[in-house]
Amino acid sequence: MRKLFLHPDAVLRRRAEPVDTIDSGIVSLVADMIQIMKEERGLGLAAPQVGASKRIFVTEGESEEGGDELIFINPKFILVDGLLESSEEGCLSLPDIRGTVRRQPHVIVEAQDLQGQSFTLEGSDLMARCWQHEMDHLDGILIIDRMSVIDRIVNRKRLRALESGGDQE
Ligand code: NI
Repeated sequence: MRKLFLHPDAVLRRRAEPVDTIDSGIVSLVADMIQIMKEERGLGLAAPQVGASKRIFVTEGESEEGGDELIFINPKFILVDGLLESSEEGCLSLPDIRGTVRRQPHVIVEAQDLQGQSFTLEGSDLMARCWQHEMDHLDGILIIDRMSVIDRIVNRKRLRALESGGDQE
């Protein structure tokens, strides 16, 4: 079973590699990602967060009961649209750190599913935000890169503790 990788692990800063073949290794990676996302109660999880530098992310679907998780392999935005909106985000790889991030509210993403079939999906508001957050992970970008200077100051103790590898404040 894979584990969650936390900032400042280098895997989180690498540009993830495209997936060529969806083999049993990829299928088991995706299963682990969904399990860890659920255990950690995240809205989404990207492969680098479990130590795999692959262009894959998973997110919760829109049903309250679950069971409709979305799997994106080799995702690309074909549209990112709308006026920037500010909202608070957190990240499983940055425990206890939250900050306001500006993102556009409407996206269309194209990706492959576990069978290798291409699909496109349109998302607004929270979904669009979540997908952009996860896509950032595939490019080695974290919310601490996008949050305001003020938010970085607010979070600096926690961030420093995380970066020095302990929980001491
Ligand atoms: Ni994240």
